[in-house]
Amino acid sequence: MFRFVKIFLNIVILIPVFVFSRDVRNASDCSECHSKIYAEWKTSRHALSGAQANPLYAKMVAWASKSKGKETGYSCKRCHEPIRFLNLSSATVEQIANEGVTCDVCHATKLVSENGQMWFEVVPGNIKFGPFKDALPAVHNFEFSAQISESSFCLSCHSNSDNAHGVTFCSTGDEWQTSSFAKNGVTCQDCHMPGTEGKVAPLGKMREQLHSHAFYGGYSQEMLNDCAELNVRAKRVGNSVQVVIAVKNHTVGHALPTGSPMRMVILSVEAQDSSGLPVWKNYYQNPLQEDRQAVFMKLLQDKNGNAPVPPWEAVSEKFDQRLKADEERTLTYQFTDTSAVSIQAILNYRLAPPPLLKKLGITDEQYTKVSLITKKKVTID
Ligand code: HEC
Ligand code: HEC
Ligand code: HEC
Ligand code: HEC
Ligand code: HEC
Repeated sequence: MFRFVKIFLNIVILIPVFVFSRDVRNASDCSECHSKIYAEWKTSRHALSGAQANPLYAKMVAWASKSKGKETGYSCKRCHEPIRFLNLSSATVEQIANEGVTCDVCHATKLVSENGQMWFEVVPGNIKFGPFKDALPAVHNFEFSAQISESSFCLSCHSNSDNAHGVTFCSTGDEWQTSSFAKNGVTCQDCHMPGTEGKVAPLGKMREQLHSHAFYGGYSQEMLNDCAELNVRAKRVGNSVQVVIAVKNHTVGHALPTGSPMRMVILSVEAQDSSGLPVWKNYYQNPLQEDRQAVFMKLLQDKNGNAPVPPWEAVSEKFDQRLKADEERTLTYQFTDTSAVSIQAILNYRLAPPPLLKKLGITDEQYTKVSLITKKKVTID
């Protein structure tokens, strides 16, 4: 009885707010009914994409503004704080913009461009665009959107980004489009918004697919676990050891890593003696200098050949060694040693190069952590 009254009251209180509003809404306005979705979104990177919540992004924007002018810094907000670009009068717009890629960025959007350009048709107000053709009556109206369940919806922000020199610094869209995943109809949502059975709202019906809004990616250990595979073979030839390592990107629907050019995947190889102590390594301090092939990343350079540099300083790509979708790459090593009995290979993921984080004064573990993708140990034949 109490529950009924409570729900009833909520509706009475909420209807006028929605019906008379021509504005966008706070995410917390949706939490009452869409509590699971809200809780997941709240922990997602989308909720942390604005300058207030994300110190790494805030410092990069400040850097871009300082070296290329305020306009460049402001342009970042098109994807990171898109609500700012809607010409709205509400006093709460500033606060909603700080929520980054918030509910209404996606659910007040009627259409985005098909070709991955940043273009949104947003209808602020009472209509929520969603995947259902049979949504039950609620405090807000609905409109079915076929596009919201397609990759093109995500690609409006995640597609290809070029700088003024034509240097592509983000290409998740093309990487996916040319992969076996796109050919087989596997979308961004299939991997990043997996569905489980559940109710969308207390007054909704049981749905087969309640989609996760946690948007797990490079920040999530769950997503990184075994997303690539290592195959290691090692044999002794006289005094030397020959190692062949195949690194296979078989589960990721785009390059590994993708998105921001800061991301890096590093292969560490170590030969061990019979007591498990290291006798040889593929690098000791800086893998980029000592064993470049072991660093899977896209490196941008400025006009003086300095690398890595941020996208707004880049005049060309120094190299792109990321693992393409479906790619298997073979790396070989040979060294002289008589005591080695086994080879251990470890594939790790980093969100940003340590020197960059140091330069920006970022010490928070959420950015500095090293995440394990997979590892393999074999004895030398
Ligand atoms: C076209 C849309 C778009 C624009 C414009 C844009 N970004 Fe991004 N940005 C993204 C997307 C999408 C990601 C997520 C990619 C990933 O996770 O690797 C991202 C990720 C980032 C990250 C990593 C955030 C983190 O928490 O790890 C930083 C930093 C960043 N962008 C800075 C900027 C700066 C600075 C600008 C302006 C100079 C800018 N971005 C402009 C779409 C954009
Ligand atoms: C980055 C875009 C994005 C953001 C931000 C976002 N959603 Fe969604 N939402 C989607 C997509 C995409 C689907 C449909 C997925 C599909 O059909 O494959 C969806 C589906 C839904 C549904 C229908 C049920 C379901 O799981 O399919 C509801 C309700 C919903 N979202 C509410 C919210 C609320 C509330 C928030 C904020 C707390 C939010 N969404 C934030 C993209 C987003
Ligand atoms: C008072 C409860 C309530 C509030 C508050 C609420 N919703 Fe809903 N919403 C519902 C119900 C009920 C449904 C229908 C569920 C069903 O059919 O299973 C729904 C469905 C949806 C759908 C799916 C529509 C479709 O046609 O696919 C989206 C998207 C959505 N809501 C977004 C939002 C957003 C964004 C907010 C906050 C701005 C919000 N809702 C606030 C109750 C609510
Ligand atoms: C077959 C599953 C699959 C598909 C399809 C897929 N992804 Fe991913 N995605 C992953 C996995 C696994 C990771 C974690 C490894 C990584 O970071 O590359 C990831 C990571 C990401 C990241 C975080 C990158 C970083 O390191 O910061 C972004 C952003 C992303 N995906 C966007 C997309 C978009 C947009 C699409 C659709 C065009 C898409 N993904 C399609 C599996 C998939
Ligand atoms: C309005 C622009 C926008 C749209 C639309 C959008 N994203 Fe994002 N997305 C971003 C930005 C900006 C970031 C980077 C946030 C940060 O870390 O600062 C991001 C980050 C991510 C990440 C990285 C999470 C991680 O752990 O590294 C994934 C995965 C992702 N988005 C998936 C999606 C999917 C799937 C869709 C479509 C349903 C989508 N995004 C739609 C702007 C957008």
